Amino acid sequence: MSSPLPATQAVQASPRVHDILRRLHALSDAQEKTLSQTIFYLKRLFRFYVTGETWSSAADDHMREKFVSLEADKCQLMYLLARSIGAKNIVEAGTSFGVSTIYLALAVGQNVAALNASGGAPVTGKVIATEKEPTKAEKARKYWEEAGEEVSPWIEVRVGDLLETLKVEEGMPNEIDMLLLDIWTPLALPTLKIIRPRLRRGAIVLADNTTMAKPLYKELLEYLHDPKNGFKTTTAPYSGGFEIAVYLPSE
Ligand SMILES: C[S@@+](CC[C@H](N)C(=O)[O-])C[C@H]1O[C@@H](n2cnc3c(N)ncnc32)[C@H](O)[C@@H]1O
Repeated sequence: MSSPLPATQAVQASPRVHDILRRLHALSDAQEKTLSQTIFYLKRLFRFYVTGETWSSAADDHMREKFVSLEADKCQLMYLLARSIGAKNIVEAGTSFGVSTIYLALAVGQNVAALNASGGAPVTGKVIATEKEPTKAEKARKYWEEAGEEVSPWIEVRVGDLLETLKVEEGMPNEIDMLLLDIWTPLALPTLKIIRPRLRRGAIVLADNTTMAKPLYKELLEYLHDPKNGFKTTTAPYSGGFEIAVYLPSE
């Protein structure tokens, strides 16, 4: 028997869902490897250093057709962390075509099923996905439907600017177990500030590309590193850096 692929070892999902994930990661990786995408990222860094501009509507236009998915290894780590802490309610800041959302939904569905099987009071959970581009959200929904029952029932997608949609109380769980910040950098700290009052002790906040885009994440990193805000953090050495912060406020 051949040894299982690493993704199969890390992530519990049907072969069909693994196939979908492999397909979507391959599409995203191919886009990221193009010369035009490399030039785009270099131009953004150049503009930041020369003019201080962190994002623009032209950059939004460029990104409208792009997956920019969280890489598979980071998604696997995120899934395992969510399983490890028994996360039931997760907020995803930046959904795009919904690849990372699939991992989060698998973890939530499996955690809820395990808790309900253990015989306590019935529990439920969900991933709150956020995407400002309606066309991207629509495509994400299609992929989640294709993934089926393991995935789609566990996702609520909020379409629009997440700085507004995440403030909507209806359907927002009182306690959040995990927050993924996979969003344009100027939005990372404002998003964390909206969600922080709901973070339960031990909640995990993840932020992508914190080494590569360190100057653009200055405010988020200062906030996470300030002891009065209650986070313990480390940067995992995945491509571009992957920040893992655990919310452990003093009692
Ligand atoms: C890096 S991508 C997310 C990738 C996704 N997490 C994945 O792994 O497949 C960031 C997404 O955030 C969306 N976005 C940007 N600004 C936003 C805002 N203000 N509100 C909601 N979504 C926004 C972008 O349209 C883009 O699709």
